[in-house]
Amino acid sequence: MKMFVVFVILVHVSQNASAVELYEGEEFVLLLCEFQTFELDDPTVVWSRYDLNPPTVHQRQQEGDELKDQNQLYSGRTSMMADALETGDLSLNLTKLRLSDSGTYTCTVRSLWEELRVRDIQLQVKERFPSWAKALLVLLVLGLIVGGLLVHFRQYFMSVYQVEVYSGVESVLLPCKTTVHLPEDVTVEWRDSDNMKVHVYQNGSDQPEEQNQYYRDRTEMKRNLLEPGDLSLTLKYPTDRDIDIYTCTVYNREGKILMKKQVLVKVKVCQVEVEEGAESVQLPFKTTADMPEDAGVRWRRIEPEPIINVHVYQNSSDQPEIQNQDYKDRTEMNEDLLKTGDLSLTLKSPKERDTGTYYCYVYNKNIWREKIVKLTVRGRTRNRSSSIDPTPLMADQSV
Ligand SMILES: *[C@@H]1O[C@H](CO)[C@@H](O)[C@H](O)[C@H]1NC(C)=O
Repeated sequence: MKMFVVFVILVHVSQNASAVELYEGEEFVLLLCEFQTFELDDPTVVWSRYDLNPPTVHQRQQEGDELKDQNQLYSGRTSMMADALETGDLSLNLTKLRLSDSGTYTCTVRSLWEELRVRDIQLQVKERFPSWAKALLVLLVLGLIVGGLLVHFRQYFMSVYQVEVYSGVESVLLPCKTTVHLPEDVTVEWRDSDNMKVHVYQNGSDQPEEQNQYYRDRTEMKRNLLEPGDLSLTLKYPTDRDIDIYTCTVYNREGKILMKKQVLVKVKVCQVEVEEGAESVQLPFKTTADMPEDAGVRWRRIEPEPIINVHVYQNSSDQPEIQNQDYKDRTEMNEDLLKTGDLSLTLKSPKERDTGTYYCYVYNKNIWREKIVKLTVRGRTRNRSSSIDPTPLMADQSV
């Protein structure tokens, strides 16, 4: 008899092992087990998990549920059909599923003489939000944070930092920062891509006599004692001529390079639009104030060809005799223009044919500033082109 029972157990286990998969938080799962117990003496059904201590998940005997040996994990979460021992439906209803419910559930029937291991069920309770997805989310968040930091501190990581400003702004900041401790007596050199010196800082002060005339009075590199690693340069009144890659190089006393950073400065070309018939239009150009008395100013139209003088100011007065006839009596500049640095040109009664690229420069032997302004004067008659068309046609016919 014992031998036979053992045989039965083996058969049952191998044939009825099954697996159930579901997600945590699920209302309930029914672990199926069927075995006719009515012919057994005083049968007891035990659901167990042998990887737990105590292993009992649920126990049912003739008198009813016997839960004093039940593992605490399952307290209040298990039930079996009331008439399980009569019908042979020994299924276990396990509710409020948790991750820790994963394991092998064994349905065993005991009687006075026998013990039958009826069924093994593999239950796998999965996370709603699986751990790989959590890991992915964590990576994503980390990535965002790192990305954000990189953007925020990009001048520390990227070789070329970019700044873009509109032509006409007062100044543009060219960042050059390091968190590394720099010695007191460093030399800082800012150069443009033509290798011209934009700004030199040495022995604790600026060295303006070293810089190119184009940059004279237009740069500022304030060393802040609280932030000794900040060697950023302020470039005043940037114009399209300043579009360039600037290099900040820091040397120690022995001339060894401690740091090198690059900044790409983009300046949007100044665009002015006006409709024909307007009283006047202003071509703006504001630059550093207090320019030398002997500086000359020239406003020229460089496109379309030919290049012509639109307005000339020299020796402290306008020079209408070297002005193009088209612009005679139509241009005006502010008084005290060298003192204020406002070199804007007022063009009266703009015409469609005034459309073009204007170029202004101010200079003396120490100073050079320039700016481009693109002027568009829209004509009031829209279909002007159709009235022009016949001319080339007639020319063709005459050939
Ligand atoms: C399992 O038990 C829950 C809670 O008592 C109940 O809502 C659900 O209907 C039961 N499932 C079955 C199949 O008996």
